[in-house]
Parts: sequence; C-alpha cells; structure tokens
Amino acid sequence: MPFTIAIDGPAASGKGTIARALAQALGFQHLDTGLLYRAVGALGGDPVAAARGLAPGDLARDDLRTAEAGQAASRVAAIPEVRAALVDFQRRFARAEPGAVLDGRDIGTVICPEAELKLYVTASDDVRARRRALELQADETTILAELRERDARDAARDVAPMRPAEDALLLDTSDMSIEQAVARAIAAARRAGA
Ligand code: C5P
Repeated sequence: MPFTIAIDGPAASGKGTIARALAQALGFQHLDTGLLYRAVGALGGDPVAAARGLAPGDLARDDLRTAEAGQAASRVAAIPEVRAALVDFQRRFARAEPGAVLDGRDIGTVICPEAELKLYVTASDDVRARRRALELQADETTILAELRERDARDAARDVAPMRPAEDALLLDTSDMSIEQAVARAIAAARRAGA
C-alpha cells in the first residue's frame, strides 16, 4: 500500500522545502501542486481549457516562481472547473509507490483526505515575507502585501479554501531552522508508519 503525505499551508511557510526534504529522506515521489495552478495562470487564455490540456512541459517553464505567477495562480485557483480538471492527476500521483508527498492548500482536505499523514505548515507573516524576499531578491514590504493578498483570496474562496484538515498536525516554523522543521516532519512520518 502506498503511503501518502499531505502538506498544506500558506505561501512561503516552508511547506515546499519540507515536502522536498521529506520525500528525499523517505524515497517518496514529490508533487508541488502549486506549480499546476501557476502553469495554468501563466498559460493565459481560457484557464479551464488550459487546466484540461495541461502538459508536463508546461510545468517546466522558468517563469512560474515569480510573485506575478503566484497571483495569477491564486486567481485561476478560485475557479471550480480549473480545480476539478486537476483532481485526477493529483490523486493518481498520490498513490505512487512506495509513497508520495504532495504540498498545496487543499491536499489534506480535498485531494487526499485519506492521507496517512497530514501536516499544516505555518509561519508568521513577517517571517514568511522575509524568507520570500530573500529567495526572490525583492522588497520585503511589497512581498508581505502580496502574500497577505494571496492568502486572503486562497482562504476565502468557496471551493477548496486553504485550511487545515481536522486531523492535520500543525507545524509552526516561525522560530525553526529548515533542519529543525524537516526533522520534526520526518519524526511525524516515522510515527505515522512511513
Ligand atoms: O504553493 P504556491 O505558492 O506555488 O501556490 C500558488 C497558488 O496556487 C496559491 O496561492 C493557491 O491559490 C494555488 N494553489 C491551490 N491549491 C493547491 C496549491 C496551490 O489553490 N493545492
């Protein structure tokens, strides 16, 4: 039986870094589901058609990590038909052998409610803005406003809003190093039987 780990949380909380490290430590596959929405937003045109026709090459574009791509992703992610078009791919990925780690906003609540382990990763707004500003070499105040706008839209939308699953383990990384956060996640995975 494959083992699925669902990791959700707001932008720049550290969930992507934790998901990648966890997958590597356990020998699992990793899917950054935010990339799917970023690619749909970046393709332009009709977002529903873009989501239905999404191809692996679309995820390899080098302009998907920008703040603009994040905003475009968050707008198309509020469209129910866009989300519906991406469900099967994510659920198939989640059953990869020997296991899979998926990170996003609705993995524990909608995509994989049966996941063997669910983590909800957070950090304070200031810490998240500082991390993202360093990563993108951008102004921290501008980034803070961008993150807050995106989080508010992601949490308020009608379909699959960003929120922790009831049985998710909360991991606040505000005062943790990457190593500490990853060690906590690996320990939780081991406890859950990975
Ligand atoms: O995680 P990342 O910042 O790359 O996600 C970009 C945007 O994609 C998010 O702000 C959110 O609107 C959307 N998203 C989502 N559901 C997911 C993953 C990402 O709605 N599972």
